[in-house]
Order: sequence, then C-alpha cells, then structure tokens
Amino acid sequence: MIENLPLSGGSHRLCIAHPDASAASPVSQPGQFVQMLAAPSQHLLRRPMSILDEGDGWRSFMVKPVGPASRELVNLQPGDTVDTSPPLGRGFPDASQLAAWQRAAGVPLLLVGGGFGIAPLHFVARRLDALPEPVDYRILYGGRTARDVELEVLAGVRGRVIPTTDDGSLGFRGTCVERARIELDDTASDAVVLTCGSHAMMRALYDALGTRVARLFVSLEEVMGCGVGVCMGCVTPSVHGYVPICTHGPVFEAATVFGPDVVSSASC
Ligand SMILES: Cc1cc2nc3c(=O)[nH]c(=O)nc-3n(C[C@H](O)[C@H](O)[C@H](O)COP(=O)(O)OP(=O)(O)OC[C@H]3O[C@@H](n4cnc5c(N)ncnc54)[C@H](O)[C@@H]3O)c2cc1C
Ligand code: FES
Repeated sequence: MIENLPLSGGSHRLCIAHPDASAASPVSQPGQFVQMLAAPSQHLLRRPMSILDEGDGWRSFMVKPVGPASRELVNLQPGDTVDTSPPLGRGFPDASQLAAWQRAAGVPLLLVGGGFGIAPLHFVARRLDALPEPVDYRILYGGRTARDVELEVLAGVRGRVIPTTDDGSLGFRGTCVERARIELDDTASDAVVLTCGSHAMMRALYDALGTRVARLFVSLEEVMGCGVGVCMGCVTPSVHGYVPICTHGPVFEAATVFGPDVVSSASC
C-alpha cells in the first residue's frame, strides 16, 4: 500500500504498488478489475475492484467498505501488504476508438456512473484526457444523497461532471438515468454511452436508451470467486448463453446481456 485516502462518503482511494503498471505504455484497460485482499487476511477469496487510475509502478482503486474484506482493505496503512492479481477481464473500448466515435457522431460521449461504478469511468476519462486531441464527454455521477457522490474522486478530469441525487441534495434532483435522457434528448441516435453502477440502474438505462443510442456499454458486477473463468460463480445470461462475467466482461455491449434475445438463447 502506497497511500490510503479516505473520501467524503466513506469510500477510500487506495494507491497500491504494481510494478507492471506504466503511464507511458499502459497494460490495463479502463473497465478491467484486479482481485485483491489484505495480506494477511481472515478471508480466503480475493475481491474484485475496478481500476480507478494507473501510473508508473502503481494502480489506484476506490474501495467502499461494505463487508469484511473491503473493511480490511480500507484499514490498511502505507507499507502494508496487499495480495493482488494482474488486471483481469475485458474493459471498455480503447480511448482512441471512443474518440473516433465521438467525433463522427458530433455529440458528447456520455459516461454514467453510480456509487463505486464511477471508478472505471474515471479511468476512461483519464485515458480520453491523455489523447492529443480533446474529446467532448460528460460524466453523470449519481447517488441517493450528496454523501453518495464522492466528487473529489473526479478531480482534474477535463469532461463536464454532472452530479445527480435522488433527494436533490447535490446537483440535479433525480436519477442519473433521468438526467441521461435529458442530456440525449435530441441527439440520442448518434450517442455512445458507457455505464457502470448497480444492476437496476444499468437495466433502467438500457430500457430508457438501449434501442435509441448508437452504442451502449455496461460493466456488470457479480460476486466473484476465482476471477479467471474457472469456478463459474459469476455467470450471466447473454446472447451467447451463460457466460462468466470475469472473462467475457465485466464490460459488454448492453444488448448482448440485456437485449430481447438474451433469455431465449441462453442455456446452461
Ligand atoms: C468487476 C467488479 C468490480 C468491482 N469494483 C469495485 C470497486 O471499484 N470498488 C468497490 O468498493 N467494490 C467493487 N466491487 C464490489 C466488491 O468486489 C464487493 O463489494 C466485495 O464483495 C466486497 O467484499 P466484502 O467481503 O467486503 O463484502 P461481502 O461480504 O462480499 O459483501 C457485502 C455485501 O455486498 C454484497 N455484494 C458483494 N459483492 C457484490 C457485488 N459485486 N455487487 C453487488 N453487491 C455485492 C453482498 O451481497 C453483501 O450484501 C466490484 C465487483 C466487481 C464484480
Ligand atoms: S469468478 Fe470464477 S468464473 Fe468468474
């Protein structure tokens, strides 16, 4: 552990040494995750955490303490040991591909995050910001209340950040799905949307926009065991049948996991 920074809503930004990480020649993709556990730990299985950012020799993560293993992680101090895997899974499309789509469409890319789902979208933003030409993108960051929207995690990103809260205590009053509909009102057919958050939020976004936007990518979350496609503890129905999220995802084109052809073609 290099640094452990508490955030305003109870999550922690953990910066962890990863000798393979490099800013100049990145090996990880936004949307990928790392399996991690404090070392030593009371627990057996490492837990998946999305990469928030990476630089020379380090990766950072936004960890919300929701249970025993995540609580152990946020209680670590600089110098303590973390047992981590390399980056795993399939992430969002490459930043240069996203930039090409955005320029062709002429409308902003929309990144829609809820809770710690903002972590991989922050990493997307950082990669977009590193491109030689600016990219027009907006980030909708939703939570129930102001406490759930830990805006400082997005400090320094160049895109416009629009917080949304159900109770109106910060930013737009309403859900990030409602705000996404407003953002895309006239331009939806050309838009590219990336989302990560609760299953219910992403499902609602797909129901609202899935058939109207050019492309919608979702990052699914599921309780994971091995993280490498062996235990089959993280399967989701898809147009290709049941697939492990840890290897076929966590990022999918939304229609392949939420679309009308999913249930009928899925088989064990
Ligand atoms: C691809 C991926 C990326 C993730 N990225 C992050 C991240 O960036 N930051 C972060 O804080 N967490 C992230 N998670 C979730 C994190 O891995 C779980 O919350 C983890 O189980 C916490 O372990 P625990 O022992 O503390 O709690 P547990 O005892 O495992 O779980 C505590 C509670 O959370 C619920 N839960 C556990 N896992 C999930 C899940 N995946 N989705 C919804 N509910 C769950 C359990 O049902 C239980 O109610 C990610 C999960 C996945 C699959
Ligand atoms: S976590 Fe084991 S197959 Fe996905």
